[in-house]
Amino acid sequence: ATTLGAAAAEKGRYFGTAVSLNRLSDSTYSTILNREFNSVTAENEMKIDALEPQQNQFNFTTADRLITRANEIGAKVRGHTLAWHSQQPGWMQSMSGTALRNAMKNHITQVMTHYKGKIDSWDVVNEAFDDGNGGRRDSNLQRTGNDWIEDAFKTARAADPAAKLCYNDYNTDNWSWAKTQGVYNMVKDFKARGVPIDCVGFQSHFNSGSPYPGNYRTTLQNFADLGVDVQITELDIEGSGTTQATTYGNVVKDCLAVTRCNGITVWGIRDTDSWRASGTPLLFDGSGNPKAAYNAVLSAF
Ligand code: XIL
Repeated sequence: ATTLGAAAAEKGRYFGTAVSLNRLSDSTYSTILNREFNSVTAENEMKIDALEPQQNQFNFTTADRLITRANEIGAKVRGHTLAWHSQQPGWMQSMSGTALRNAMKNHITQVMTHYKGKIDSWDVVNEAFDDGNGGRRDSNLQRTGNDWIEDAFKTARAADPAAKLCYNDYNTDNWSWAKTQGVYNMVKDFKARGVPIDCVGFQSHFNSGSPYPGNYRTTLQNFADLGVDVQITELDIEGSGTTQATTYGNVVKDCLAVTRCNGITVWGIRDTDSWRASGTPLLFDGSGNPKAAYNAVLSAF
């Protein structure tokens, strides 16, 4: 195969990218998107503040354009994200207790109903665990009660039973980290108690503070063994040249080694599209030329 999407499809996987909707008018960007990827995630446009700027007033116009493009190019869509402590609209930031819990559930229901049948996988809950230990992150949502995550997943299942429901987080790649164990134990508990969860997303923003770990494949496999799909959802790798390319190739090989690792998404197309303020963490350079990392990904499939 000569594109990322086709190479992944030959192995029964998808290869996706985050898309920033205002970049679609950039022809270099759009050409690469249309050619290379068979899954897309809105980088910001399906977040809570974007879709529900005022309480119970939804604005789907921009995000709907991603669905249109995805249909045109035959790509799946990952929905990102329904419940999160960050990028909440102002009205939600100032809420608490039962009112916030109900607002969270209403957001999930309304958004998933609007996109019913159009989203392959939803990040129902994003980044709910604390970085320093295996416990929950403090947030307004967490303060509504420890059951807010399972409440979110049950609400999501009722709204669109066909969508895969994912828990998504970062720094959960290294099997020996407490945060990884915290998320693992939650998923294990959910499966044991019948809380609906279908997948775990590993953001995989690799850098010097949280490098690609040698036990990444073990982590993916251990989660998969709980009976969920695993997806690499926001991949970017700090660095350049051969070192970066080798790591990208290793990530692909790790996913291919785990039957239930069904897709990889990079968090942007060109280095200049990255959310990282500096560096060259993606597969295409600023001019849209494929880098060594691109070739490594293609040949790892
Ligand atoms: C980032 C976007 O890339 C930025 O444009 C935005 O300013 C902040 O959010 N984890 C996530 C993503 O789940 O939603 C974040 O995306 C990156 C970290």
